[in-house]
Amino acid sequence: MQKPTPNHWLLYCRPGFEQDCAQEALRQARQQRPVLAEQTAILADSGYVVVTLNDQSLSWRDLIFARQLIRLHHTIAALPDRDRLTPILAAIADIPGSFDTLWLEAPDTNEGKLLASFTRRFQPLLETALREQGKLQDNSQEAVRPEPVEGPTRTKKLPRLHLFFPDKSSALIGTSDPHNSADAIMGIVRQSMPPEAPSRSTMKLAEAIEVFMDRSEQTRLLRQGMTAVDLGAAPGGWTWQLIKRGIRVTAVDNGPMKGALVNHPLVQHLKQDGFKYAPRKAVDWLVCDMVEKPSRVATLIGEWFAAGLCKHAIFNLKLPMKQRLVALDSALGNIRKRLDEEGINYRMMAKQLYHDREEVTVFLTKTKG
Ligand SMILES: C[S@@+](CC[C@H](N)C(=O)[O-])C[C@H]1O[C@@H](n2cnc3c(N)ncnc32)[C@H](O)[C@@H]1O
Repeated sequence: MQKPTPNHWLLYCRPGFEQDCAQEALRQARQQRPVLAEQTAILADSGYVVVTLNDQSLSWRDLIFARQLIRLHHTIAALPDRDRLTPILAAIADIPGSFDTLWLEAPDTNEGKLLASFTRRFQPLLETALREQGKLQDNSQEAVRPEPVEGPTRTKKLPRLHLFFPDKSSALIGTSDPHNSADAIMGIVRQSMPPEAPSRSTMKLAEAIEVFMDRSEQTRLLRQGMTAVDLGAAPGGWTWQLIKRGIRVTAVDNGPMKGALVNHPLVQHLKQDGFKYAPRKAVDWLVCDMVEKPSRVATLIGEWFAAGLCKHAIFNLKLPMKQRLVALDSALGNIRKRLDEEGINYRMMAKQLYHDREEVTVFLTKTKG
């Protein structure tokens, strides 16, 4: 039997979570077939990992710690100072096909931030050269093109080309499948802080909505007139995201709500324990940002769905210092078990978002049969 050619994958993650990111990717690959050529390159606090597999594929949606998923084609270890363009173009010429977009990226670290002006200057040079060679689509007409149709009839998009610079003298060159990756440079769906929002946590929920739901789902699932419960609501950043969409919120927290949320007509603030509170009538949404053990939050979420108290939820699971993947597996496994026992159909997705620190965010929604 022919030996499969090893495939290298480049994954971006939050700095400090490289082990978790690699461990999770290898585990996903092992579920398909043994990882014969298991090798991972992990540099602590670098914000990325390179994983070597055989012919296994990886699914970005099912990876919690990976911000981005890239098939790595070339690594250039010593880029000459005077002419970085020539070796990079030669390496790209070797990759078959052409590309939809070119993203120049650097790690999400302090050192990586210093490379921003370099990548900004380099981008137009490289784009022009690649367009001349027919390797890069001319997207200048993009604005007048119709939106691709979502769902089974959606058009197959060309891959993106990524040039990742761990530093100025090395480059990792890869491609991402737009249907199996984050649609955001560096895998970061950036949010700006709305000046009226009462806390920076508001950006976490805003990002979760963008990452977990496409436009049509956002319109369908977050509608004016819906109802929600926000557990651990104070000072009100998550509640603010919901009322901004016309959703009526019961905000449960012993702490005070802030600013415009005090006496807001769409907000009812209850100073109660979030683990004991239950609404009298079922609501559309449960959101939960209480700082608690993941196992306890998972049990609570399972109970709400089992009792039919909500249809959709976004919640945070705070991570322990060690054995993070074990704690997550156990918490998410408990929720799955409970929902399966109740015969509930659902979709669940968990990600460590850009605005998440020692935590991950989970989206859970009931689906039809
Ligand atoms: C990270 S903060 C929430 C921030 C909020 N999501 C926002 O956007 O402004 C966590 C909150 O959970 C609350 N909390 C912790 N345990 C709780 C419990 N058992 N019941 C209700 N609230 C709780 C805390 O009082 C705190 O206000």
